Amino acid sequence: MEKLNIALLSGGRSSEREVSLNSGIEVLEALDKSKYNITCYDPLTDIPKIIADAASINAALIILHGPYGEDGTVQGLLQLLNIPFQGSGVLGSAMAMNKLVTKRVYAQNDIPTPPYIVLTNKEPLNLDQCIENLGLPMIVKPVEAGSSMGMTKVKTQKDLCHATAKAFEYDHMLLMEKFLTGREITVAVLGNDHLTVLPVIEIVPNQGYDFFDYDAKYKEGESKEICPAEISEDMARKAGAYAMTAHKALFCRGYSRTDMICCEDEIHVIETNTIPGMTRTSLLPLAAKTAGISFTMLLDKLIELSIEEHNSKKHLKK
Ligand SMILES: Nc1ncnc2c1ncn2[C@@H]1O[C@H](COP(=O)(O)OP(=O)(O)O)[C@@H](O)[C@H]1O
Ligand SMILES: [Mg+2]
Repeated sequence: MEKLNIALLSGGRSSEREVSLNSGIEVLEALDKSKYNITCYDPLTDIPKIIADAASINAALIILHGPYGEDGTVQGLLQLLNIPFQGSGVLGSAMAMNKLVTKRVYAQNDIPTPPYIVLTNKEPLNLDQCIENLGLPMIVKPVEAGSSMGMTKVKTQKDLCHATAKAFEYDHMLLMEKFLTGREITVAVLGNDHLTVLPVIEIVPNQGYDFFDYDAKYKEGESKEICPAEISEDMARKAGAYAMTAHKALFCRGYSRTDMICCEDEIHVIETNTIPGMTRTSLLPLAAKTAGISFTMLLDKLIELSIEEHNSKKHLKK
């Protein structure tokens, strides 16, 4: 079989550039060189090169996180260039990148999500009112960001002003969310029309962490990931159903990973990632490995799904 020409996109201009570059290095290493010729592109500088090479690219792997990569912008560019790419299209990417849109979609689909207040940087802050409505602790987060950037767990009223200023460094809109205490889990699904739910992972940040923040996520040894999670079969089934419903309701394609918190018997869903972290030790590759799918096989599958998705739309009169 002839080798496929794969464009590997990593880097980009979001605040998650470093994370993306690290994922890119590991994806490049794991890709099966007997099947693929791989060219790397950094969208920060290489968009003209992607456009110039478009006709010879068989599929793209978008290993970008956050705005300008995970939010539909790069997906739109590749769609215009007629290049298949892994994961969600413009709509699903844009919807899932926006945590407010995501929560509204969850609510419409009977997926429990923590109570919240939305705030823009044009509105005056009524901190007392926010605290009265949500209670403390709460978590403040930018509407569009990732890797826990710009997020703060607020325990006292005096921390709230600083937390909102921090979130507004990343987006003009933020969410204040009731902080839920419970076990954190994440569930990935894989597929276009026929979805497979991968084993549930439980995330346990080391003592001293208030939540799964940037350091707990990326510093080695700062959190434990347990897969399959040691939760009841019922909870695992429910978590899988929420991940699947979220994926479909947000128009995701290919794969996604949905983050949740288990409180007693209920599961609260906090967000859906359309381009989950992609180092060997990241959560999605771990769930895949537990299901018997190696990192290399996972990448094969994503490429296969990208081409399948692309071909299924070829006949459409658009
Ligand atoms: N409502 C909440 N209650 C408790 N912890 C939360 C809540 N929202 C987020 N977190 C914590 O913050 C982390 C990052 O939040 P998340 O909404 O998933 O944003 P990101 O896109 O940055 O991953 C979560 O993994 C979790 O540890
Ligand atoms: Mg998350």
